[in-house]
This record gives sequence, C-alpha cells and structure tokens, in this order.
Amino acid sequence: MGPRAAPLLPLLLALLGRPDPGRAEGCDLQPVTGESPIALSYTTSTVPRGCVSSSSLGTDHEVHVLSIKWSKAPTVLLTVSITPGADACGRSPVLVLLCASCFANITSQCPHLLIHTDAHLISGTTAEPPKASSEEELLNWAQSTYGGITSYSELRDPRWIQLRLGEDASSPPNCIPQNHFNAMLHLETEVFFHGVKSCSHGDTQSTRAAHIIHLQPEPSSLITEVNLSLSCPENHVSNQILILQSRTNLTWSLSFKKCNIQVMASGNYKIMTIFPTLLPGELLPDTEQDLIAKAFEKNYSTIASYSAIPATTRISMEIQENKAAKKVTEMITPMTHLTPTPELQPHQLLLLLKPWTCTDETMEITIIKSHLKVIKDLDIKDITLRDINCQAEKNATHFMLKSPLSHCGTLLGGRGYANNELLIKLSKGTELQDIRVAFQCEIPRELFLRLFPTAAFEVPQTELEVNKEAFLQASMMWDDHPADLQLKDCWLVAPGREPVLLVQGGEAHDVGVAVLEGPPSSHGRKIWRFRFTYAVPEGGRIPFSATLKCKAGLQNNTNFEKVLEVTVKDTWRPPNSRGLGLAAVLGITFGAFLIGALLTAGLWCIYSRTRPISKLQPVSSTAPASESSSTNHSIGSTQSTPCSTSSMA
Ligand SMILES: *[C@@H]1O[C@H](CO)[C@@H](O)[C@H](O)[C@H]1NC(C)=O
Ligand SMILES: *[C@@H]1O[C@H](CO)[C@@H](O)[C@H](O)[C@H]1NC(C)=O
Ligand SMILES: *[C@@H]1O[C@H](CO)[C@@H](O)[C@H](O)[C@H]1NC(C)=O
Ligand SMILES: *[C@@H]1O[C@H](CO)[C@@H](O)[C@H](O)[C@H]1NC(C)=O
Ligand SMILES: *[C@@H]1O[C@H](CO)[C@@H](O)[C@H](O)[C@H]1NC(C)=O
Ligand SMILES: *[C@@H]1O[C@H](CO)[C@@H](O)[C@H](O)[C@H]1NC(C)=O
Repeated sequence: MGPRAAPLLPLLLALLGRPDPGRAEGCDLQPVTGESPIALSYTTSTVPRGCVSSSSLGTDHEVHVLSIKWSKAPTVLLTVSITPGADACGRSPVLVLLCASCFANITSQCPHLLIHTDAHLISGTTAEPPKASSEEELLNWAQSTYGGITSYSELRDPRWIQLRLGEDASSPPNCIPQNHFNAMLHLETEVFFHGVKSCSHGDTQSTRAAHIIHLQPEPSSLITEVNLSLSCPENHVSNQILILQSRTNLTWSLSFKKCNIQVMASGNYKIMTIFPTLLPGELLPDTEQDLIAKAFEKNYSTIASYSAIPATTRISMEIQENKAAKKVTEMITPMTHLTPTPELQPHQLLLLLKPWTCTDETMEITIIKSHLKVIKDLDIKDITLRDINCQAEKNATHFMLKSPLSHCGTLLGGRGYANNELLIKLSKGTELQDIRVAFQCEIPRELFLRLFPTAAFEVPQTELEVNKEAFLQASMMWDDHPADLQLKDCWLVAPGREPVLLVQGGEAHDVGVAVLEGPPSSHGRKIWRFRFTYAVPEGGRIPFSATLKCKAGLQNNTNFEKVLEVTVKDTWRPPNSRGLGLAAVLGITFGAFLIGALLTAGLWCIYSRTRPISKLQPVSSTAPASESSSTNHSIGSTQSTPCSTSSMA
C-alpha cells in the first residue's frame, strides 16, 4: 500500500502506450482474515499425502484408510460415499475414517462395509476407532489389525469424499505415503479452499469489485472442461466481474444462481443458465500482478477475492453476504445500486455475444437473430452505430453492418482497440426501449493483405487479372513502436510456376513492380503499397489460382506472415469458357502444338473423342489471335494421363 510516489510515471507510460506495471501496485493481496467474501470449493483427486499398495491382496479384507485434517473447525456435514469398483464390492471391505471433530454421513453401496471411525456418524454402526496420534501409528495399526493396507489418503478440508473400492495387484507392495499423491484411481473429493486473498486500491471511490480465479497450470493435466457454479446473495451488487484465468484450450461451463456479474475468461466459456452457446474468451495474463492490473484496467478497483487453485473439473463458489465482504466494499462507498431480480438484460446479452469484429481497416457487426431468443419476447427493430446513418442491414436470420474504421463515429483508442456504440431500438413484450451498448473491438495484431484493381485502393477483391496492373496493400497495427515494423518480402506463388519475389526489404524486386507512396501511418498503423503486373507471355499457361504471401517483422526476428488466396483471371476469355466449349478445345490443340509432337498425340486422343473427324486437322500457328491467346488452363493435368481423362472434354 502506501501513497504512490509519483503520478507522473503512469502518465508517461500511458503516453508511450505501454502497459503500466504500477497499476497493480497499491493493491497488495493479503490472505483474508476473518470471514471470507467467498466460499469456494473444488474437486480434486490429488491428496496432500497418500499411497496405495497390494499388501492387502493376501489377506481377508481390502482396507482403505482416510485421515481428515481441518484448517478451521468444520461447519458442514462431511459426506463419504463408497462405490463398488471393478470387482464389485471386493472382499469384505474395511473403511478406517479418522476425523475426531467430524459429523459424517457415510453411505455405501456395499452392504458389508466395516467402518472404524471416531467421527460422529448420523446413522449406522461402527467398530472401535484406532488409537493413533500420528500417521505412522495409524498405518501400523491398520497393518497389524488387517495384515495389509489397500489405500491411505490424508485429506484437508473435504466437503465430500467419494471412494471407489478395488485392489490393484500392480500397486507397490507396501503403502509408503507420498506428498501430493494422485489418488485418481480410487478417490475424488471436493475440498474447501482457504487461501482466498484480497485487496483494494487505496484511493478508490468505486464499488466495482473483481473476483479472480486462477487455475494453476498442470503440465500433464487432461482436463478440457471446468464446471463452475456460482451463487450470489440476494441483493447482490451487480457491478462485479468474475475473471477466470486458465490454459486457453479449456472450456469454462458456468452456472449462475441469482448472479448478475460480468465474466472474463481466458478459455472459451458458456453460461449454462442463461446462454449456453460457446463464447470466445480473451487472452488473460498469467501472473497475480498482471491479473490485478487487468481488473484495474477495467475499472474494478477492489479485488474482492483472488483464488489460485489447482487444475480441477468442478468449482463451486458462493459470494457471501457477510460483514467481511461488506467491509471490503464499505471502505469504498456504501452500496447504492441493487438489482433485485437479476435476469439477463439486452445490453448484457450483447456484451456476451460480442458481435463485433475488426480488422485494421474495418468494423463488422453480425448478430445472429436466433441468439436473441434467450431473452423472452425480445424483438430488435433497428441497430445503428454511434453515427445513426450507419444502419445495420437485415435478412431473415442476421443483422449485419460493415463500416470502415474511419467512419460511423468509430474512435481508435490506442492499444489495438476501436471504440463505438450500438444504438438499438427494441421491444420487449409491449415495452419499447432504446438501448446503447458501448463496446471495444479488438484490432488483431496481424498483417493484413488486400488486393485492389485500381490505385484508389478502395474496394478490395480476390481476383488477379493476368497482364494487367494490380495493387497490393500490406498493413498492420503495431502501436507500441510502429517504426520497428518492416515489410520483409512478398511473393506471388502459383501452382506449377516458379514463385515470383515481388518485394524484398520494402524494395521492388521484380520488373513490373513499383513501390507506391502509402498514406502516412496513423494510430500506429503501418501501410505498404505496390503496383505489379502478373505477366504471362502469350501462350503461357495460366493457373486458376495463386497466393500472395507477405512477411513483416521486427528487428528481433519476430515475424508476421500472411497469405492471400486469389483466383487468376485471364481477360482474354470470359471465365465461364474455361476448359469447355470450342475455344477451349482449340486451345488444347494449340497449346499442344507448341509443346511438341509427343504431347500432341495424347491431346489428339482427347480431341478425337470429343470432335467429329471432319474437324481433325493440324492447327497452324497462324490461327486467329483470339484463339491463339486462349491457351488451355489444364495442360499440366492432361500431361500425365492424356487418354484416360475423358472428363476433360
Ligand atoms: C446422507 O447421504 C445420502 C446419500 O448422499 C443422502 O441421501 C442422505 O440424505 C444424507 N443424509 C443426510 C442427513 O444428509
Ligand atoms: C459439467 O456440466 C455439464 C452440463 O451441466 C455436464 O454435462 C458435465 O458432465 C459436467 N462436467 C463435469 C466434469 O462435471
Ligand atoms: C492444452 O494446451 C497445453 C499447452 O498450452 C497442452 O500441453 C495440452 O496438451 C493442451 N490440452 C489439450 C486437451 O489440447
Ligand atoms: C474507467 O474509468 C475512467 C474514468 O472514470 C474512464 O475514463 C474509462 O473509460 C473507464 N474504463 C473502462 C474500461 O470502463
Ligand atoms: C443473411 O445474411 C447472412 C450474411 O450474409 C448469410 O450468411 C445468411 O445466410 C443470410 N440469411 C438468409 C436467410 O438469407
Ligand atoms: C521481439 O520484440 C517484441 C516487441 O518488442 C516482443 O513482443 C517479442 O517477444 C520479441 N521477440 C523476441 C524473440 O525477443
């Protein structure tokens, strides 16, 4: 904490467009003492200590030992359920449960389970508990009483335990406890998390609070989905955010109970209760400091809870309505804004759908109408951007709007974002509403290639005409240090032809390429422009398609590559005559004549199958110009099996 030394530094950094590492300063995460603002538990099969062994195999019983430790006096009934394993209920199973302060509900699908426990059971009969004050004594007792131990697990703060019976001959001969033991084969438990930390920014005036869950990376983890259920108290303040950090290839499946909360997740996520469509997450930093800085960046200046927990498949979290939670917010201002019955509002739905995408030149809004059905009786009449002249078009299934970034009131906010607002006229039941949804659209940090037919660089196309000038533009946002970014090379690659190096080091490389003056870079966007001609000599083979491939990079060899697929168009011939019709067939013959007699024989074969004999005569090089220029596009493919490709004709 403490006063911030110099407000000048963040300002300077902001001017330089750098992230402010100091943003997270002044908020030192501290373990929560007293009542926690949240109750969080998660499932796991990793226990603090444990072991398995095959030592019970030669005895009359399989023996499972559970030793429970508590960080705080337990306040819930511990549920232990015993399920049959691969060989059903095994041989006279024995459960040893050491948990002196517990109230426990043990249920077993195996009727002959013998239980030794010092816990207070809500039902059932038990045998005498072991007298053991240490792990060693406990294990010695089990060993000497039953002659072997099938499994041993020490657990901390469990809410429930599921134990699967079964012995494994491939287990080690003796049960020697190991720390951080993976008991996946026979045990799953849900444990309470007591490591919640929190902090708030000293000078804050806001009630906006963040809850952060940081799933610790586990290299060998096979987990692909995490189910998180969140419940909130009545009168829960709506201006909170849930930040979920994990590996990016993880899916968060969220169920909310009475919660009205923003979500930011690093994997994909879906909100089962209101909107079970997979939504894309965003890249989140993976350190404590950077995550706090991220929350601050979004103006959530209190970290109500920060929980770093191991990889898990299920998390339950409850935002508590208690004094401690209030204390955190009361340091700021009293709660003013209460939402009694949180139900999804149209503007929240749009913030979830994020229907906007940007390139470095355009903004596009696409709303799939069926997604709006989540809200009952919602009907959208009209959508515009901040500039109401920019109105979305609609068809039966979509609303669509596309505009250049320079129009429609879009503001470039620096750091790779474009800002605008959606102004929406809607009806919900009989009620008419105008809503306004301000949004930030991320401009991807990638190289964009666009091909234009004219030097106006106006309407991009994906068709390249041979022997005609074309205009290529490469551009990219690099707002940190635009000067660092250089165009390295651009190639024109077509199947069956030598690749052509058009540009190298920003200079024209091939004849027929000219570097054009682009507009000056603004908002950190660099633009390179070229004019070039794809020259194909008369009679040369023209491919159907080609790719333009450019690479830009930084001094330190970080490169950005982009490929633009284009179709190749030969102006001499309308595209629909390709490979078919009289012109094409004459083209085959003419091309073959140029290539040589051997090939002519093969092509002649095709010809003879498709043409009446009377037309079979050598074609001379003095054939009319319009025909001679229509060289065939597929000679390459007919070369290999000339007579078998009857589909050619
Ligand atoms: C004990 O657990 C069983 C099975 O989970 C459950 O049906 C039963 O209601 C529980 N008893 C109590 C008192 O919670
Ligand atoms: C997560 O929830 C979904 C839907 O409720 C369910 O189908 C899935 O089995 C759950 N996954 C886990 C690991 O509990
Ligand atoms: C997810 O990504 C990590 C590396 O980021 C990788 O080790 C892991 O195998 C991936 N998991 C799946 C299920 O793709
Ligand atoms: C955060 O608050 C400041 C000042 O009130 C405002 O200018 C800024 O736009 C807000 N940022 C976000 C992401 O809401
Ligand atoms: C509406 O337009 C979108 C985007 O162009 C298109 O994908 C969709 O098929 C169209 N729907 C109908 C019914 O024409
Ligand atoms: C190169 O510099 C960029 C920006 O300065 C940085 O993001 C990237 O990590 C650097 N790459 C290497 C390989 O140093």
